Amino acid sequence: MKNDMLENLKRYGQEHLLTFWELLSDLERCKLKDQIESIDFSLVNYLYANRNVPVESLTLADLASDPPAYKFSTVTDSVSCKQRKPISSKEAAAAGENMLRCGKVGAILVAGGQGTRLGFNHPKGMYPIGPVSGASLFQIHFEKMLAVSKRYGYQIPYGIMTSPATHNETVEFLKQNNYFNLREDDIFIFCQGTMPAVAIDSGKVLLESKGGIALSPDGHGGMLKAVTRKNDKGISILDNFKQRGIEYLFYNQIDNPLVQICSPEFLGYHFLSDSEFTCQVIRKRFPTDRVGNIVEVNDRLYVIEYIDLPEAVACQTNSDGSLKIWAGSIAVHIFNVEFLERMSKIVNSLSFHIARKRVSFIDISTGKQIKSDKENAIKFERFIFDLLPFAENAVVVEVDPFNHYSPLKNVSGSLSDSPETVKNNITALHTDWLRKAGAIVEPKIPIEISPLFADSIESVKQKIKAGTVFNKAAYLSTPSRN
Ligand code: UTP
Repeated sequence: MKNDMLENLKRYGQEHLLTFWELLSDLERCKLKDQIESIDFSLVNYLYANRNVPVESLTLADLASDPPAYKFSTVTDSVSCKQRKPISSKEAAAAGENMLRCGKVGAILVAGGQGTRLGFNHPKGMYPIGPVSGASLFQIHFEKMLAVSKRYGYQIPYGIMTSPATHNETVEFLKQNNYFNLREDDIFIFCQGTMPAVAIDSGKVLLESKGGIALSPDGHGGMLKAVTRKNDKGISILDNFKQRGIEYLFYNQIDNPLVQICSPEFLGYHFLSDSEFTCQVIRKRFPTDRVGNIVEVNDRLYVIEYIDLPEAVACQTNSDGSLKIWAGSIAVHIFNVEFLERMSKIVNSLSFHIARKRVSFIDISTGKQIKSDKENAIKFERFIFDLLPFAENAVVVEVDPFNHYSPLKNVSGSLSDSPETVKNNITALHTDWLRKAGAIVEPKIPIEISPLFADSIESVKQKIKAGTVFNKAAYLSTPSRN
């Protein structure tokens, strides 16, 4: 077994992976063999060899203009947007409600990331983010799904993407919590693929232990492959969704508890504009804001990452002083199921991006583990938004961060996107709902509303009497029943 593998690895200059073979147990050898067999070494070597080729987006930036866009009803800025056809927010909301009532919408939550910046020792979805309840990110997302399913009278299939880094703990956690009262039959937990990390200076695949390769999730773009991969019965996640009559997929990421899951207005803009892929965006606060910029080039939409957008282009303005390149992606999307299926059949519809990272590894000459204090490795990741240019009639929908976006990215104490900022933003939004519904909320009181209790000013109005006073921390929730 070893000799065959060695021969093969030598062809790619990766034979060092078997350095410690003689020291491994049978079980460890099997695991290493499986890992080696799962890696496309010619792809890895190709990606490494091309690591310095300029990314396409550098050339795109010169041609970029603003994307066609709609505004969510809560957006108050008055900057006008380019539109392919006029659609009012009322029309959009009605069309979206119809899509939901007809049972055509499914949802995908991606939760395979390693969450390295947060520094939490479990999958990010388990992080207790509720400012009063301590509810986990998973609980908040699942309760939103339950609320939507109840409102529209059908069990919305819910795909949860994990990775080897998060899978087992996620499955265990969700099971232990009885899927937060969603039906187990409606939940599809699936694991994304991995890519090996390679040494920056040599392209050699790194070992994380003597018998294990340093593998990491292949990016949120790994979703495309993962949802179209057939199981041993020849059925993929998308096949399952299609069998239930699902034509549209709402997509979001685990780290944003303010996301409005399956919002009718968002769905309706997608449907009425005949878009195959629609993205929520926020208006950038300043030219070099650290968000993916959605732009239009020759009638197609692309994302240019902030790092690849030259400052001179980023600073261009319209005659009213507003930014030309204004739309920052917040990773909330809708896809046509048929579009994802088509894309899955095109080899390399999603190319790999490279990220330079610090990765601990085993020194081949000493067998010792090395913790690098500088970037020593390259990781390869696919991004789901790279499907945008392939989509017909892609559009963006502008939302306001106050109502829609506060991601948990950074360790406690950081200035932005930290547990504290996210908790404050949840409290600020829910306090605002209560006050607009006529309640009196004293300043600086932690407030949290479960999605099962209410999810908007209107729904708060139905539950809370005008004049009700909140003068201490409050969590408004409803015991859920299936
Ligand atoms: P991020 O790029 O913010 O990564 O992912 P992360 O893993 O959460 O955090 P860092 O960068 O290691 O600190 C954005 C979203 O995409 C998901 C994450 O779970 C998160 O919801 N994601 C990311 C995946 O599902 N798979 C991946 O391979 C990468």
